[in-house]
Amino acid sequence: MAQEDVAPIRVGLLGAGTVGSQTARLLVEQKDELAARIGRPIELTGVACLDPAETDPFPWIDKAIVTTDTMSVATNSDIVIELIGGTGVARKFVLAAIESGASVVTANKALLAKYGPEIYAAAEAKGVDIYFEASVGGAIPFLKPLRESLVGDKVTSMLGIVNGTTNYILDEMTTKGLDFDDVLKDAQAKGYAEADPTGDIEGYDAANKAAIMATLGFHTSVTIDDVSVEGITKITADDIAAATAENKVIKLLAVVENTDAGVSARVYPALISNTHPLASVHGSFNAVFVKAEAADDLMFYGRGAGGAPPPSPVGRALGPPAPPIAQGGPRPGRR
Ligand code: HSE
Repeated sequence: MAQEDVAPIRVGLLGAGTVGSQTARLLVEQKDELAARIGRPIELTGVACLDPAETDPFPWIDKAIVTTDTMSVATNSDIVIELIGGTGVARKFVLAAIESGASVVTANKALLAKYGPEIYAAAEAKGVDIYFEASVGGAIPFLKPLRESLVGDKVTSMLGIVNGTTNYILDEMTTKGLDFDDVLKDAQAKGYAEADPTGDIEGYDAANKAAIMATLGFHTSVTIDDVSVEGITKITADDIAAATAENKVIKLLAVVENTDAGVSARVYPALISNTHPLASVHGSFNAVFVKAEAADDLMFYGRGAGGAPPPSPVGRALGPPAPPIAQGGPRPGRR
């Protein structure tokens, strides 16, 4: 059957802010490539936002599909992309979307850290998918291997540098001998840290990610309330100098463990040896060091966020086109 005879996959966007509008642009501009890869046409059929005027700066969004009726978009789509943020109405709409039979894509860490177990169970009961690859580790393909490749193994612990902002700050303090406040101000001026950096520097962002990692890695229910959190605001230049003198570095780690004593999840500034692979994670990069019984040690490393162009979480979940293989001329390895 020709693709044009097949009903398109209806995609509904909840939220039309920075990420929502750019996701809409990808869906509209790459419609044909996406259809070719997926094998079915794909169509943006609804964009829900608080005020339709929010979409005025984005000419690629067809005004006819913009609505303030978020529930109708949530329950009349095949794939719902949740970009509302927060843990209030986002939960209601995500659960309604799942109940209507839609699969859901989200990068809402706070939502998953608080209600992840409830949402995953609802999706499983309904036989739909929930994708949230970019919620931990930004551009690093980490959650899918954790959910799928390692499902037959027993993951015993994960140590994660999962917050780019704090890694950048600690790295600048370490390499330049600067104080926390000075680095934070500089990072804010350069746009590497948020105007309100509380969620990052107090460790709450990393704690959300720790809850998601522990839930997926240990096949159990861990929420943000189970995570103990200490941020980096009390770290001084003297602390850093003392660590350096002992050939160690201070990193804000999300540490999740699955031992005979049970599951634990913590976020705290940890002293690690210069020889540990995590010590070489600089700037705003992220990494997660995983220990599993069969696979032994694994490390996932790459761009998180903070000071770098953010990845395209939703684009990847939908399967954006691969870079083209050079057309014409000899291929590598061939004459
Ligand atoms: N504020 C986060 C960070 C963004 O600095 O890593 C990515 O989740």
